[in-house]
Amino acid sequence: MKRFTLVTLAVALTASAVPTRYTTPAERGLLDSPGVLDNVLLFDAPAFPDPKNPANTIAQLQTYVSLRTPNLGLATGPIANLLESLGIDIGDSLTTLQDRVKLLASVGLPGKKVQINVPGCSQGGTLPSTSLSDLGLANAGISLGSCTTASQLEATVVPGALDTRKFTASIFPSANSGFGVISDIDDTVKVSNVLDTGALLKSTFLDEPKAVSGMPELYRALSQKLNSPQFVYITGSPYQFYPFLKNFIGTSYSATKGPIFTKNLTIANIPEAIKIFTDDQNTLEYKISMIDRLQTMYPAKKWVAIGDSTQKDPEAYAAAFKKHSDFISCIWIRQVDGADNAASRFTAAFAGVPAGKFRVFKDSEIAGLANIDVAGGSC
Ligand SMILES: *[C@@H]1O[C@H](CO)[C@@H](O)[C@H](O)[C@H]1NC(C)=O
Repeated sequence: MKRFTLVTLAVALTASAVPTRYTTPAERGLLDSPGVLDNVLLFDAPAFPDPKNPANTIAQLQTYVSLRTPNLGLATGPIANLLESLGIDIGDSLTTLQDRVKLLASVGLPGKKVQINVPGCSQGGTLPSTSLSDLGLANAGISLGSCTTASQLEATVVPGALDTRKFTASIFPSANSGFGVISDIDDTVKVSNVLDTGALLKSTFLDEPKAVSGMPELYRALSQKLNSPQFVYITGSPYQFYPFLKNFIGTSYSATKGPIFTKNLTIANIPEAIKIFTDDQNTLEYKISMIDRLQTMYPAKKWVAIGDSTQKDPEAYAAAFKKHSDFISCIWIRQVDGADNAASRFTAAFAGVPAGKFRVFKDSEIAGLANIDVAGGSC
């Protein structure tokens, strides 16, 4: 249902927001670094020891460069219509709606090179040019040289000429040892109601986000018991919702912040956009590939993978376990009312995963999860 909704949205936006042809920065007479007419989003990033020289740190950075002024009318129109057709009253939430659709309405810019500095590290770096196929996005491992042993660093985008704005992101360095927590967002840590289209739209575009009751406390407890594990949030939501999700995690999960991996949704390409949201397999594969990425960054870390039963978390985490075995210590799945919670589903999903390695929990069991001795091998 979520997928249908976002397809509708992506198609509506594509029809109107994207120019038929992109001019290159050179054609527009601009340098390839972002300028005052551009907007830069730098995503919070994980950082890990350089395998070739563990004294050095590599940050896996992602950026999105777009035109500074999105056409908000183009995006709010179709979404407002969609909400209305479902009988959802926007009421006095128009400002919230406009804020949430800002990136959906944005036009990504290829060919931009974002340069960053990280105080506390011996060197900064430059991301590769933003992509034409993943419109406006660039993602790369950037060597920061040697960094102070802070648990959190701040990356700053080197501003273009005459640009007084400041774009920053947090970098979360973590050792290739100890524990980490992989967490889904929608209906695992945030109430999103992905099984109910109307409620999902409301929670996504209009309402103040709400944490799943008991989860912030559980994560805080895990943070203490597992000695400040690296928290990484992996969501099937596209990056256009990243600022919203980042604010939510920063507010409701302030003790357990971490990078948020979001999906690429290039709205210039309708078939691709449709595929992303009509293909459950795609979310499954995306999550597995993000766990693969973590495995290359921290091959010797052990992870607790936490998700829920609404979409494909059991299947994705089980597949990651079968691929990397010891890398995934424990899989915890929140049983959400109304989802496919049939025993046969979990039996099929966890075939080949030892019974002591996963657990499907009810909301009444959330508090008790904090007492499980994960570091001691329990799950
Ligand atoms: C998103 O796009 C960037 C730029 O092409 C790419 O490097 C990155 O791997 C993509 N991320 C995912 C999750 O596919």
